[in-house]
Amino acid sequence: MPEVCAGEPTQFQPVEIDDFVALVQAGGEVEPERLRNRVMTRGVSLGFLRESTGCLLGVGGLKAPFVSHRKQVATDSATALAEGDFPYELGWVFVLPSARGRKLSFPLCEPLVTQAAGKGIFATSRIGNIGMHATLKKLGFVRTGKAWRSKQNQEELVLFLKKAV
Ligand SMILES: CC(C)(COP(=O)(O)OP(=O)(O)OC[C@H]1O[C@@H](n2cnc3c(N)ncnc32)[C@H](O)[C@@H]1OP(=O)(O)O)[C@@H](O)C(=O)NCCC(=O)NCCS
Repeated sequence: MPEVCAGEPTQFQPVEIDDFVALVQAGGEVEPERLRNRVMTRGVSLGFLRESTGCLLGVGGLKAPFVSHRKQVATDSATALAEGDFPYELGWVFVLPSARGRKLSFPLCEPLVTQAAGKGIFATSRIGNIGMHATLKKLGFVRTGKAWRSKQNQEELVLFLKKAV
């Protein structure tokens, strides 16, 4: 049975961070420049989903986004996204194509959401990403605001919010 290991970026070996960055880049939905640096400085908790053999199946992260990114998402989605209300973003989620359809995105993301300790989280997702939408809803996120087109995607993006509890 696959297991998830989640923790602060500094808790992991440099080669594990290499794998994390490589998988996030394979997803193709983030700006590649200085991604490793962003992972190390903005990552609050990184999740590694591994097969019992140790083989890496997927990654995800809870991050403290840059102010500029938060403002862009707020503007694009026409939604208020104050840092005090939503200090964290759930992102960098990628499951290897060969491991998809096994309902592993939920156990991958759940410990990352737990790391927010009840504080608000936002997440963006392609409008047609049915699997991610289902998992976000199961984690307590609600789709909010209007759809928009980003630089990295042909497909429109939508915003999901999980309010503080
Ligand atoms: C998004 C991603 C992580 C989802 O993982 P996955 O393995 O494909 O999906 P899962 O098997 O975990 O399924 C999650 C849920 O979506 C449902 N689902 C998945 N694909 C579906 C489809 N095509 N139609 C309907 N439901 C679907 C599953 O039934 C499950 O719901 P349930 O638990 O309520 O039954 C994965 O597809 C991926 O890495 N995609 C590329 C990167 C990406 O899009 N990342 C997200 C950025 S926000």
